[in-house]
Parts: sequence; C-alpha cells; structure tokens
Amino acid sequence: MDEVKVKERIYVPPIKIQGKKTQLLPFILENLPKTPYNVWVEPFMGSGVVGFNAQPEKAIFADSNPHIIHFYNAIKNKEITPLIAKQFLQEQGKILAEKGQEYYNQMREQFNKTHNSLDFLFLNRSCFNGMIRFNRKLAFNVPYGHKPERFAQAYITKITNQIKQVAFLIENNDWVFICQDFKETIQNAIENDFIYGDPPYIGRHVDYYDSWDEENELNLEAYLRNTKAAFMVSTWHSNEYRKNEYLQTLWKNYQFATTEHFYHLGAKEENRNPIIEALIINYEKNVIPKIEVKASVYQQLSLLNDTF
Ligand SMILES: C[S@@+](CC[C@H](N)C(=O)[O-])C[C@H]1O[C@@H](n2cnc3c(N)ncnc32)[C@H](O)[C@@H]1O
Repeated sequence: MDEVKVKERIYVPPIKIQGKKTQLLPFILENLPKTPYNVWVEPFMGSGVVGFNAQPEKAIFADSNPHIIHFYNAIKNKEITPLIAKQFLQEQGKILAEKGQEYYNQMREQFNKTHNSLDFLFLNRSCFNGMIRFNRKLAFNVPYGHKPERFAQAYITKITNQIKQVAFLIENNDWVFICQDFKETIQNAIENDFIYGDPPYIGRHVDYYDSWDEENELNLEAYLRNTKAAFMVSTWHSNEYRKNEYLQTLWKNYQFATTEHFYHLGAKEENRNPIIEALIINYEKNVIPKIEVKASVYQQLSLLNDTF
C-alpha cells in the first residue's frame, strides 16, 4: 500500500520513534486474532501507533523509556491538552525560528535536567528525523533537524490534532501507561489477553533505552512461551544480505506471517532498501480476518467542536 493511502487511513501519534510500525499497520492489524481478547498488552509501545489504531477498550501500554510514558500520562491527567501544546509550540517555535540550532541545544540541555514532557515533544518534532536516542548518561542526544521554520502554523495544527485524537481515545477507553521492563509486562498478562510485542530488532539499535541483545531475545521467547495470552511479535525475516537466524532456531515452533517492506534512506528511488518483515504468532491464523482500521475515532472527532 503506498504511503499516502496508509496515512489517509491511520491515526499518526504525536511522538515519533525510529522503527515505528506506521507503514506496516495494515499487515499487523490483518493478522490480529479473530477471537475477542480482554486486555491489549503492549510491552514495547514506542510511538504507540499499533495499539492506538487497534483501539482496544482496555490496554496496558508499557515501555522502558520513561519519557514516552510520562508524555502519555501527562495527556491522560490533562497536564498536556491540545490548547496547552499549541500555545507552547507557538511560543517555542517563534524562538527557534530566530535562534535555530542555538535554541535547540538550549532546549535539549533544559530537557536533560528537567525531563519536561512538552520539551520532549518539542525536541522530538524538531530533531533530526524524529528520532529518540539517549546516551549512557541518560541524556537525549539526537542532533538538530536544521529546520528553523519547523513550527509553522500548519505543523503545529497537525501536532495539536494528533494530541487531540489520542486524548479522545485515552478518555474513552481504559488505558494504562506504565514504565517497566518487558518481562514484567508479559508476566502480568493473563489468559484471554493479547500481547503485541515489537522489541528493538536484534543487532540493529544502539541506545540506552533501546538496546537489544541475545539475552533479551532469549528472555522474550521464554516469557512468551510461559504466557497463557495470545501473542504476536514483530521482527525482521531477511534482507538482501542476511536472514534472521533466530526464526529458524529460537522461534521455530511458532507460526509466521511475512511481508516485504521498503525502508527509505533518502528521497531517491535507489535508496529504497527492501526487507522482509515477519510476525511471530502463537495462535491459529488459518483464516485471516480482514480487520479494517476503525474510522469511528475520526467520525466522532469531527462531531466535536474545535476546542483549541
Ligand atoms: C521498535 S520500538 C517499538 C515501536 C512501536 N511498535 C511503534 O510502532 O512505534 C521498541 C521500543 O521498545 C522499548 N524497549 C527497549 N528495550 C525495552 C525493554 N527491555 N523493556 C521494555 N521496553 C523496551 C524502546 O524504548 C522502544 O520504544
């Protein structure tokens, strides 16, 4: 499905992260269990794009990165509203337009001392490529995206709409956001829950909150093997040069679904890198249900007054 079509149909959250599954959503949603589940359990929420679009009534969104969790709890308890975010980005965007890099660096330094959720949003939306990366001293270290006019009115409206939509979903569902290790999240899942796991891809990330090694991969399989919940795990299957060997060894007793995906490393067509993405599944997927992304959130939102 091309990028424009996907974007028309799905809800895109306000926080960006490398490895987000926006483009893979149709593939993931189509492979969800066809029997109803009780709680949606997402041990590696990242941007949250998968669970936010699945729109479960009850969910546990967890991540080891506290800043993501603080941000969504700030929306939940209304410390951050669309109006507050809009005013904040307008004020800060004006200063960024005047001072550029110097101001970005100042904000980054401030965030690394105070851990303010609005500063996190500002950095995430003005840094290089919408990335989240922390060093060993727990400092956010993504460089400036070099777009001083980043927070133009249209962009601020886009971000405030993204916040408005997720605030609506949080208010109308029973969703919990918690900072904890994946092992604890999986251990707390029970029969009739559904776990969607999207760990960092093994051997690919270098980041304090986002590192992943063989021990983690072995633990993930061990905890999932012992769960009574249904689960689906995203991983990579192969690219032009390599295969993910863990699929033939550690994960060999589960079912897989695969699809080809292209990562863009630049604007040029030849920089499209094909990769086969995989889903590891512990339930029957013989009859794959066609689950459409719910449009109801947009319909319901369009009935609300513009409150910011
Ligand atoms: C690939 S990203 C998830 C992307 C997400 N599915 C999306 O579409 O935006 C992996 C996430 O796992 C988190 N993470 C890494 N190690 C973790 C751990 N040990 N326990 C819980 N979360 C962890 C990272 O902070 C990151 O947000």
